[in-house]
Amino acid sequence: MNAAIRGIGKSAANDGSLQVIGFKDGFRGLMENRSVRLDNQMLSGILTLGGTILGTSRDKPHKMPMGGKSVDMTDVIVENYHKNHLDVLVCLGGGGTLKNAYRLSQHGLNIITLPKTIDNDIVGTDVTFGFDTALGIAVDAIDRLHSTASSHHRVIIVEIMGHRVGWLALGAGLAGGADAILIPEIPYTIDKLAESILERVSRGKRFSIVAVAEGAITVERANKIRTIEKKLDKAEGEQRDGLKQKMNQLDSQYRGSTIQMADELQKITGLETRVTILGHLQRGGTPSAIDRLLATRIGTGAIDYIKNEQFGIMVAVDGEQTKAVPLQDVAGKINYVPLNHPWIMSARNLETSFGD
Ligand code: F6P
Repeated sequence: MNAAIRGIGKSAANDGSLQVIGFKDGFRGLMENRSVRLDNQMLSGILTLGGTILGTSRDKPHKMPMGGKSVDMTDVIVENYHKNHLDVLVCLGGGGTLKNAYRLSQHGLNIITLPKTIDNDIVGTDVTFGFDTALGIAVDAIDRLHSTASSHHRVIIVEIMGHRVGWLALGAGLAGGADAILIPEIPYTIDKLAESILERVSRGKRFSIVAVAEGAITVERANKIRTIEKKLDKAEGEQRDGLKQKMNQLDSQYRGSTIQMADELQKITGLETRVTILGHLQRGGTPSAIDRLLATRIGTGAIDYIKNEQFGIMVAVDGEQTKAVPLQDVAGKINYVPLNHPWIMSARNLETSFGD
């Protein structure tokens, strides 16, 4: 985040014709009109800092938490945009930010978004910044977990972030040499997973590492979701609301399911099993060199689109270049791992189990 903010701010200062202010805590800060001037002093020394100097929040303009309720504050945000005489609002974030930014653009605001998420689940860009840092942390964790797994002859399950997509778990699992990788794109059964671990035991391998995306789902749950989705297509009114609620319930059940899965696996295999949940460790600390390069490239590149008054776009990574992608083409879409992706093919060639 900070490398991108620095890229925008410093390039704007260099250009001389642009002034940059930052709003604190995401869309909430814009609603409450809390801003800071992003001058050279503010931008200095932040390249290597994790997090964001501006602070952030998950608050959405049209569902702003206000005194225990959720209120549509879009009009206030639009008003503050104009009060501040903004020419463009640059929004840094993942899928949620993208959807909210697109909504604001439909209210007449000039918007540019930059793809930042550790999940790498934004369509239209080769990659998102944040992913490489989180990947490095997850791989390091798997490397360290190997010590206990191999010395104690245990199964170690490591839960890696990614509630909708498996990029992080797949990348870290492959780079860290995990023996099984479970991702949302490939529903698993506990029996198949157990079979693959017992098969390793029969080959004399007394430990296994399982990399699990937090959103990994069983075949059974995937089927339930599919059934609801089909019904949702046709449902209207109250029935639709009820189905949506059911869907949200199923969606939120992924939390904690790794521990349950470990218990089941231990019962079936009879092998001592432990769980490590990496959680927010993956989203912190010093950003990797690759991420700093990427965020700097995108942040500085954004200035050209601003000067060309190209709005309603996401600045995407396209090889060594950046490109403008219309927000309407990417908002609300999810970049799933394709089932024929080379990482999946490589893992299958290595006999890594996907529990399928
Ligand atoms: O959206 C990125 C992400 O890191 C997901 O992988 C994870 O499920 C989620 O954020 C966690 O969000 P929070 O910090 O709000 O609990």
